[in-house]
Amino acid sequence: MHTKLFIPGPVDVREDVLSKMASPQIGHRTKDASELQRRISEKMKKVFNTEEEILLSTSSGTGLMEGAIRSCTYKRAAVFSIGAFGKRWYDIGVNNGVEADLYESPMGYITEAEMVDRVLSSGKYDLITITHNETSTGVANPIEEIGEVVKKYPEVIFCVDMVSSTGGHKVEVDRLGIDIAITSSQKCLGLPAGISICTFSQKAIERAKKVKNRGYYFDLLNLYKYIKERNYQYPSTPSISHMFALDHQLDYILKVEGLENRHKRHLEMAEVVRQWAREKFKLFANENYLSRTVTTVENTRGVNISALNEELKKRGMVISNGYGSLKDKTFRIAHMGDTQLDDIKELLNNIDDILGL
Ligand SMILES: Cc1ncc(COP(=O)(O)O)c(C=O)c1O
Repeated sequence: MHTKLFIPGPVDVREDVLSKMASPQIGHRTKDASELQRRISEKMKKVFNTEEEILLSTSSGTGLMEGAIRSCTYKRAAVFSIGAFGKRWYDIGVNNGVEADLYESPMGYITEAEMVDRVLSSGKYDLITITHNETSTGVANPIEEIGEVVKKYPEVIFCVDMVSSTGGHKVEVDRLGIDIAITSSQKCLGLPAGISICTFSQKAIERAKKVKNRGYYFDLLNLYKYIKERNYQYPSTPSISHMFALDHQLDYILKVEGLENRHKRHLEMAEVVRQWAREKFKLFANENYLSRTVTTVENTRGVNISALNEELKKRGMVISNGYGSLKDKTFRIAHMGDTQLDDIKELLNNIDDILGL
């Protein structure tokens, strides 16, 4: 029996998308490969709401996070963290020899726009990183307010981790002045893990030209140059299988379901889980900044989450425990990708039944 995934990535993938992964291979230096990548880029521009160039990486999203902070920090990076994935940017920076400072908010809280303003007004930084949707705590940062503040600092490259929001929660990349927005395939886009996508603004391109040691595999400028000079090709051998699946899934998202409908469905699922959590447990995050793609529930009943999951697995479904230090204090229910409202209702009914709620 297939176990339905209510964990915040990887998500369940529809059969038709999975079968595209098994398409016969094509050479990565062919016209067809160029055409495939060009099509994906055009569609991803719509998903990100950008006119800037799209870069693909057949790595998970962390690869592009590494590429962004390393390729585009000339002076010093300010890393704003509201959880495990925010902190990851800092670790990546330090391990790549990028000068960086970490500005953390307590677990469950946001990065305040005023804090960003205060930090940037020091003039020390030329790149910042923000997590849009922190999957470890279920918090969505106020990206609109933060975007307004960053606009006051034109020398700053604005990098946003949208790994667990793109395709589920609308963000207008160009309007907010985001230079590099990064997402992964295995979350709201509803694909297997193994490909990640980012936007790359003209401003980011100009910055990267000034940076000497951009690494090799995740050198974003090199990815960009290949697109321009080799007609939408990839510098090394990409996972063409993922590209076939992504091309197909983007047609589904844009033409069959519709992007707005997809965003709406994510919010509807979130609202049902939130209401259930309020009635039966407690929400971990502040009401004003709840994630639309994953809900973190405070384990006010001291439920043994591993035992609950064992019972759920017998019924063909699985949720996630809390992340890191929140492991038993919270649990997480993801409502992302192609999960439907009925799946969510079925899950919650089963949890009620198992726990006698
Ligand atoms: C918010 C966020 N950022 C970054 C990552 C890392 O992405 P990946 O696992 O695709 O490298 C994750 C993965 O869960 C995430 O949820």
